[in-house]
Amino acid sequence: MSTQISEPLRLDGPQKLLIDQAVARYAHRPGALLGILEDVQAADARRYLSMAALRYISERTGVPPSTVYSAATFYSLFNLDPQGDNVICVCRGTACHTRGSRALLEKLLLDLGLSEHESGEAKESDKLALTTADNRFTIRTVACFGQCALAPVVEVNHHILSHVNERTLQREVKALTQAPKSRDGMSAKLPQPLSAIASSQPGQSTPAAEGRK
Ligand code: FES
Repeated sequence: MSTQISEPLRLDGPQKLLIDQAVARYAHRPGALLGILEDVQAADARRYLSMAALRYISERTGVPPSTVYSAATFYSLFNLDPQGDNVICVCRGTACHTRGSRALLEKLLLDLGLSEHESGEAKESDKLALTTADNRFTIRTVACFGQCALAPVVEVNHHILSHVNERTLQREVKALTQAPKSRDGMSAKLPQPLSAIASSQPGQSTPAAEGRK
């Protein structure tokens, strides 16, 4: 079963202060909105931007709420839902599909006790984002990582795994399940900064691409 974490309707003092500081940090700088969104999300224990946070960012920057929301939804870098300690993203593009990504995804969901039917999005676009009840894992899909020659591709905590098979993936999940949690609740195997993808050998990982759709 996946979990629903209730959305905060209002921000508390520390949350507002954090946004105030981010707004001040990026004042008069180009690309300020994206920088603010990135910093606010990075500071959140569940790595996401709540609607209350987006509203407050709009209020503090003077940027219309629709523009703030559009930016937060356009870039896949931003999450509008709370993320699990570990985020696994399975590519569902054509190259990965023909090399077995559907079976990888189904096995992953089965192993973690998740069901695609819990995601309304999945019915329409084959895109999903599901989080386990214990918040340990979020499973997402992506249209293409731009690394089709390495298909099937799976991203684990921002590291690209190439030519993935069920055994590789099960090994990754097992290692993450056994990893101790850090103080903010995230796995000790922390996501790395997003950067360009380097070529990799089968089973090896590389940093993932930024802002993919
Ligand atoms: S289709 Fe999977 S990386 Fe392009």
